[in-house]
Amino acid sequence: MSKPLRIGMIGYGFMGRAHSNGYKRVNDFFDLEYHPVLKAVAARDVAKAKDFADRWGYERVESDWKKIVAADDIDVIDICTPNNLHAEIALEAAKHGKAILCEKPLSMDAAEGEKMVIAVEKAGVPNMVWYNYRRIPAVTFAKQLIDSGKLGRIFHYRANFLQDWTISADLPQGGAALWRLDAKAAGSGVTGDLLAHCIDTALWLNGSVKNVTAMTETFVKQRKHQLTGKVEPVEIDDACAFLCHFQNGSLGLFESTRYARGHKALYTFEINGEHASIKWDLHDLHRLEWFDYRDEGPLRGWRSIHVTDGEHPYMSKWWVPGLAIGYEHSFVHQVADFLEAYAKKEQAHPTFRDALETQKVCDAVLKSASSGLWIDVSSV
Ligand SMILES: NC(=O)c1ccc[n+]([C@@H]2O[C@H](COP(=O)([O-])OP(=O)(O)OC[C@H]3O[C@@H](n4cnc5c(N)ncnc54)[C@H](O)[C@@H]3O)[C@@H](O)[C@H]2O)c1
Repeated sequence: MSKPLRIGMIGYGFMGRAHSNGYKRVNDFFDLEYHPVLKAVAARDVAKAKDFADRWGYERVESDWKKIVAADDIDVIDICTPNNLHAEIALEAAKHGKAILCEKPLSMDAAEGEKMVIAVEKAGVPNMVWYNYRRIPAVTFAKQLIDSGKLGRIFHYRANFLQDWTISADLPQGGAALWRLDAKAAGSGVTGDLLAHCIDTALWLNGSVKNVTAMTETFVKQRKHQLTGKVEPVEIDDACAFLCHFQNGSLGLFESTRYARGHKALYTFEINGEHASIKWDLHDLHRLEWFDYRDEGPLRGWRSIHVTDGEHPYMSKWWVPGLAIGYEHSFVHQVADFLEAYAKKEQAHPTFRDALETQKVCDAVLKSASSGLWIDVSSV
């Protein structure tokens, strides 16, 4: 009989659904010592939160997240709110000794992230950030291939994350649906929202970043604000591109935009090593493209590996070889890994400290874009 781990969720939007799905499915597929219990959800709009709670099976709703953070019947606080609330909620949850699962990016900037890291480490509570792409089997498999040394020395890391949903100048900023366009709620634009994912994956696969040079652009300079009704300057970056040196000597090239007409969520990366290269594309997330120079000459070429065999990461828990799983499963895997680490009294990764490193790279990128200089990540 597994033991209950009581979840208090704050925010019930896109990620509220993705995480709830993870909590509900995880014990159906993974053998674990703990099972999540959907105890409470907090949000300001109680009627909407009640609908959410009824649909997903949460036991109660609170209009003030502080009540959930302080409640005795909650073990884990799951932060699914816009970025400007992550720190305040996490600091309060650490004070109450709760385990904390926080959505990405960890914080509005690295200084705020430092405070969060200090708080959770001082409180000694389990802490993890939802950089879920690490748990897509093909991406985890890429990590195994790199760590096994099969690529040899790494020369290049290339990643992009392209969308096209903010091109219209009539789109307002701020408020419930469009907080991502409001720097006061989001911290930054595509850098913290999309490139943060690419950076987390890159740090995990290829190690730390030494320095960066970046450019950003805000194509639509002012938009009506949903909350004030006034036309206000847009302070987020609509697009960002940066170059970097990794500590291992390889070169990085990253690009993200919400102005790439035709792309909804094109997240790709490619890594070129001395012996082999790998490529991955979120649109085809169960495939890993592999090129190995050691293959017999005439047969050399890109192989498309369908990462669905039982010997591939996580896949023995699902169906039979050849049958793919999807985006939502990355959250099921992250919950499974968290519960496994929790049972062993270990931390599941990325921890707040891991995510702070991503935050520092984001800060360095923004600082470089505004100064026009190369910025050392260690100086942030
Ligand atoms: N891991 C990923 O791939 C991924 C994907 C999308 C979003 N995110 C992150 O998840 C977080 C939430 O994004 P989302 O897309 O789910 O946003 P969303 O707008 O869909 O949901 C945000 C939720 O927060 C609630 N909220 C806002 N202010 C609140 C307050 N003061 N008290 C209580 N609740 C409040 C809203 O009511 C809403 O339920 C962000 O940090 C975002 O960067 C991560």
